[in-house]
Amino acid sequence: MFYIGIDLGTSSLKGILVSKTGGIIKESTKFYDVSYPQDKWSEQNPADWINAMKLALKELSEGIEDEIGGISFGGQMHGLVVLDENDNVIRPCILWNDGRTEKETEYLNNVIGKENLSKYTANIAFAGFTLPKILWMKNNEPENFKKIKKIMLPKDYLAYVLTGKFTTDYSDASGMLLLDVKNKKWSKEMCEIAGISMDMLPELHESYDAIGMVKPEFGMKNCVVAIGGGDNAAAAIGTGTIADGGCNISLGTSGTVFISMDKFFVDNGNKLHAFAHATGKWHLMGCILAAASCNRWWVENIQESEDYAGAVRGMEDMVGENNVFFLPYLSGERSPHNDVNARAAFIGMRANTTKEEMGLAVLEGVSFALRDCVEIARNAGVTINKTTLCGGGAKSKLWQQILADILDADVCLLNTEQGPSFGGAILAMVANKEYKDVKEACDNIIKVKEVIHPRKDIVAKYNKKYEIFKQLYPALKDIYKQI
Ligand code: XUL
Repeated sequence: MFYIGIDLGTSSLKGILVSKTGGIIKESTKFYDVSYPQDKWSEQNPADWINAMKLALKELSEGIEDEIGGISFGGQMHGLVVLDENDNVIRPCILWNDGRTEKETEYLNNVIGKENLSKYTANIAFAGFTLPKILWMKNNEPENFKKIKKIMLPKDYLAYVLTGKFTTDYSDASGMLLLDVKNKKWSKEMCEIAGISMDMLPELHESYDAIGMVKPEFGMKNCVVAIGGGDNAAAAIGTGTIADGGCNISLGTSGTVFISMDKFFVDNGNKLHAFAHATGKWHLMGCILAAASCNRWWVENIQESEDYAGAVRGMEDMVGENNVFFLPYLSGERSPHNDVNARAAFIGMRANTTKEEMGLAVLEGVSFALRDCVEIARNAGVTINKTTLCGGGAKSKLWQQILADILDADVCLLNTEQGPSFGGAILAMVANKEYKDVKEACDNIIKVKEVIHPRKDIVAKYNKKYEIFKQLYPALKDIYKQI
């Protein structure tokens, strides 16, 4: 049997066809757009995802339709997909990096109160989470709000179209601010705050649960669908980040620091997200809203180039010596600042500053922002001295080394760098009983190929720079509000 893993990303849907021993046989990537109708808004049309999924599934399953044993997903998290009584999508999906909900987020954190939110859900409100978006709809689009019959997350919509089953999983549901994460059930209190009834929410499952078979119209008659996970939890499966304290960093459109936990744990002040893992256990996560997307912006938008290799030429010798700083807040920031008004900034240029120094500052700035998340976890008692890496940015040799140096941690490169889609394929294998559980699957399939070690002399230099980096956001915070 073969398995299909789908990564429902922000810039594209990536599908992979995988053998049960983890060999990648075929890949199919379908791109779509993000629309930014207003400042801070970020939306996508779910119909674009469905078209992309149909095309990818056709390509991947061609000729072996009956040998596809399962499909599962890693999906962009937090997006609000709302359906009416006829199952029509009511409005475009409001994405994870949308910052329109400043008022609703403030209301939740200050009026409902962080303590209550943490008690009911294990988390506080961040603008990108799903509940603030529901409240935004209620306040700003009351006609649309009244039509809501089903609320789901992006990958749940794909699963719904494939199977007709209205379900979600605990890892993705954790990011809605509607789930009692500790007890793994929808929170009655939070539904009341949202003004929604619980029957609008999908049935809850573990990520590796088979929720149904693919409908006949998709032509794969032996194919189960496992509900899958949020993209970061799925990426953790795809990188074997399943043991207590294991860390995976994703350098995608967003950047995340994902720490697998055997026990439910909330950090003091809820700076990190306390979510369920796709293993059935838990995780902590810090999410920066722009990571590899900062480098893409720098290379493609600013330098009008597609030559990523050329863009980093000559930078290696400057590592540790660069006096230019970059704040990566192109989409505002989630962890740890929780500030939709934050903006990106370059600081420290002189008349002779080169574009290589600025480009290096971009890679360093993203890495320092990830270190902000790592430091919160370290301060909460979690040891992070090694991490796996996935996402588009993970391919850059230079960035791998800079991350190792800035985090003072080993960066482990794996036999696969396809985090969420690979995790999806593994979850599908478990659902179809190729392996008895996620651990057995990961132990058999995922192998470390290379370890990048931090260089102590550069670590010391970066430690000094990090002390400066940490002061930049607080210094600019009030200015951002005025822009
Ligand atoms: C995680 C988050 C992002 C998206 C990206 O909380 O918002 O990583 O899941 O797809």
